[in-house]
Amino acid sequence: MGKGSGFGKVILFNEHFTVYNIPSIVSAINRVTTATAEPFEGTGWIIDDQRKATPGYKEEKLEQQKDSTERILKVAGIDTTRNPIKIILEGDLVAASGIGASAASCTAIARALSDEFNLGLSDDRINELAYEGEKGYHGTPSGIDNTAATYGGLIWFVRGTPNVIERMKLERPIEIVVGNTGLVADTKAAVAGVRERKEKYPEKYGKIFKEAEDLAHEARKALESYDLKSVGRLMDENHKLLQEIEVSCKELDFLVSLAREQGALGAKMTGGGLGGNMVALTPGDDLQEKVARAMEKEGFEVLRTRIG
Ligand code: MEV
Repeated sequence: MGKGSGFGKVILFNEHFTVYNIPSIVSAINRVTTATAEPFEGTGWIIDDQRKATPGYKEEKLEQQKDSTERILKVAGIDTTRNPIKIILEGDLVAASGIGASAASCTAIARALSDEFNLGLSDDRINELAYEGEKGYHGTPSGIDNTAATYGGLIWFVRGTPNVIERMKLERPIEIVVGNTGLVADTKAAVAGVRERKEKYPEKYGKIFKEAEDLAHEARKALESYDLKSVGRLMDENHKLLQEIEVSCKELDFLVSLAREQGALGAKMTGGGLGGNMVALTPGDDLQEKVARAMEKEGFEVLRTRIG
C-alpha cells in the first residue's frame, strides 16, 4: 500500500495574473489531502473519495478528476490494465474551490503512486506529475497550486521556463481566516473568461496587469519586513484588481467587506474566484477569532489557520 499527501494553499497575491507570468505569492496551509494507493481486484483504476467537501464539489469535479487521474497515471508510466489500482482520498483539507484542493489531491496521488510502485520520485518530479494532473482541472494551470501543494511554505512564484520558485521567510507565522462562500466554482471557466476579456480590452487589461506586477514586488517587501499593515493594504488593492478583471462575485465581496469591518488588516478573494474562498489577514488569536466568528454568524464555513 502506497501513501502520500499534498498541502492546501491560499494565494496571497496575484492569482490569475500568475497565468501570464506576473509574479505571485502563495502560502501552503497546514491542511492536507492524503492518498492511499493499493492493488484491487478489478480492471483499471478507481477513486474512493472520502474527503469532506463543499456540497456539490465532488459531483461537479468528477469528470475533471477522471481526466486528471488518467494524466497522472500516464506520466507516471503506470499501466493499470496490468496493475489495477484503487486510490483512496482522505485528509483534513476540505475539498472546496480556491484552497488548492485539486492540486493537493494531485500531489497526494503522485506521492502515493511513487510509494506503491517504488518509483523513488523526487519532489521536483512529484511537482511535475501534479502539474500534469492539474491540467485535468484547469486546462492551462500556471503551476502555482501544485508547487505549494508539493513543497509547502511561503513561495514567490513566477511562471516561466523554468518557473521561478523562491522560498520566502517570515519573522513568524501570521494568523489568517479563510472564508468559504459555499459556491463551487470552475477555475477553467474563470481563467478562460480572463483570457477572452484580456484579448478584447488589451489596453485596460495591460494597465491592470502592470499594477499587479508592481504590487507583487511591494507585497514581497512588506511580507519580508513583517510590515503587516502594508501587507493588508496590498491585499485590499489586489482584491480590487481581481474585481476589475471580473473574477470576484458578490458573495466573495460580502465576506471581504465583513472581514475588513471586523478589523482584518486586509482581505481578498483567493484562487480562481467566482465563488470558492477568500482570505483575511488577522494577526493574533483574538482578531482571528473575532473575524472568524462574524463570518460563522452569517452562516459561512471558515478555516482558522496561519501563513508563513
Ligand atoms: C487557481 O488557484 C489559481 C489561478 O491563478 C489559476 C492558475 O494559476 O493556474 C486562477
